[in-house]
Amino acid sequence: MQDPVYILGIESSCDDTSAAVSCNQTILSNVVANQDIHKQYGGVVPELASRDHQKNIVPVINEALAKASIPLTQINAIAFTRGPGLMGSLLVGTSFAKSLSLALNIPLIEVNHMQAHILAHFCLPGAVPSFPFLCLTVSGGHTQIVKVTDYLSFELLGQTQDDAVGEAFDKAAKILGLPYPGGPLIDKYAKQGDAKKYKFPISNMPGFDYSFSGIKTSFLYFIQEQTKHNKNFIEENLADICASYQACLADILFKKLLAAAEQQHIKTIALAGGVSANSLLRQRLMNLQEEKNYTVFIPPFEYCTDNAAMIAITGYFKYLKQEFCNIKATPNAGYTL
Ligand code: KG4
Ligand code: ZN
Repeated sequence: MQDPVYILGIESSCDDTSAAVSCNQTILSNVVANQDIHKQYGGVVPELASRDHQKNIVPVINEALAKASIPLTQINAIAFTRGPGLMGSLLVGTSFAKSLSLALNIPLIEVNHMQAHILAHFCLPGAVPSFPFLCLTVSGGHTQIVKVTDYLSFELLGQTQDDAVGEAFDKAAKILGLPYPGGPLIDKYAKQGDAKKYKFPISNMPGFDYSFSGIKTSFLYFIQEQTKHNKNFIEENLADICASYQACLADILFKKLLAAAEQQHIKTIALAGGVSANSLLRQRLMNLQEEKNYTVFIPPFEYCTDNAAMIAITGYFKYLKQEFCNIKATPNAGYTL
């Protein structure tokens, strides 16, 4: 039998510091330190995020190792988020991962954060998506439709050309006076609202691309106009506003997703990224399964938002292919002007 492979995953791309330990395809621990400090600013402040990562990274890694009951000396490789993300935040995880791999003399594996969100589906025991499948990856920074043909084979079919859908949620929440991150709050208030009460314009992008900047601006003008006539408009209609806006975002996302699925003749669809915690998106995807015979995969909440379990699992697939990154200085060979 093959020896087990233990990977330490480190995630620090935005405002969550996270570490996880995996043994082959099983997650042994997944510790996430959220940074509350950004709430008071209505969005992530990059400088504060990197400072908090510096404070959190050692305790978070220690806790992940302790929860997994695996000592550092047993770790076979370190996987870290190389990007995309905030520069200062990424630098903390990257420098830490590099130093630790040098100190332990074990391989270092770089992980693309967006690929990791997709591979979060393979962190779980039980049914996993079969290839090929389409993944709608929706986060605070990205909105993509990706065709996944193997663990490490991805084809981008479409993506947002401006704001991400998570940003469209968060900015609208800010306009409504809700704290950051507002996505989960819009989701919460929408549950009691009438989704048909207000209409917002749906962008018409070519192919499978998205755009969310227009709907964000029209939402701002709508609220400004309504509050001119009634200064209590938001509080009197909060649930209906949230439900209508959220439904419009879901319409935009699903129209392109279904078109891509039909064009590609793919009937297996997965959701990934922080916005996949949204209950309407989850419901709409479930409806596809029940009404249109799609096979759908929705990650549990802890693997939707940023976490290091997805980094560790991606690291494991790269470990199997020996895809390590070279962190040795190369004084001459191969470096010509
Ligand atoms: O993937 P993620 O944790 O971080 C990034 O890589 O961006 O995604 C964070 C985003 C935020 O915009 C947050 O508002 C959104 O996910 N989000 C939600 C919900 N939960 C998190 N948006 C809508 N409904 C939710 N329930
Ligand atoms: Zn993310």
